[in-house]
Amino acid sequence: MKRFFKTVALVPLLATTPPLQAADTGKALVDSNCTSCHGDAVYTRENRRVKTIEALNKQVRRCELSLGLKWFDADIDAVTTYLNDNYYHFK
Ligand code: HEC
Repeated sequence: MKRFFKTVALVPLLATTPPLQAADTGKALVDSNCTSCHGDAVYTRENRRVKTIEALNKQVRRCELSLGLKWFDADIDAVTTYLNDNYYHFK
């Protein structure tokens, strides 16, 4: 939890920094918010629903809204990038 608050405090700074740090932010956000309903198996299951990077971005937003989190666009983008780099691999 401590790490999560630290990350949130850093988000405005990270928004303009290179992809590697954005990916770290994405991982931190997913690890601390996105494991209560499904684990990462949902991103790699055989009939996964998300087929494009745009759909991934929308799904991240949908799940984030269902949590009532009010993330910034930069957070949505960081999580989209993280999930794409590690699970979806869209171009
Ligand atoms: C309130 C429960 C809940 C939480 C919390 C949640 N999700 Fe989901 N998520 C779902 C459900 C339900 C599905 C759809 C599963 C299905 O279709 O079988 C889903 C599916 C997804 C998918 C699509 C998987 C596919 O089939 O390709 C992604 C990506 C995703 N969630 C990301 C996230 C992220 C990022 C977070 C954290 C912000 C998150 N989820 C938190 C309920 C949740």
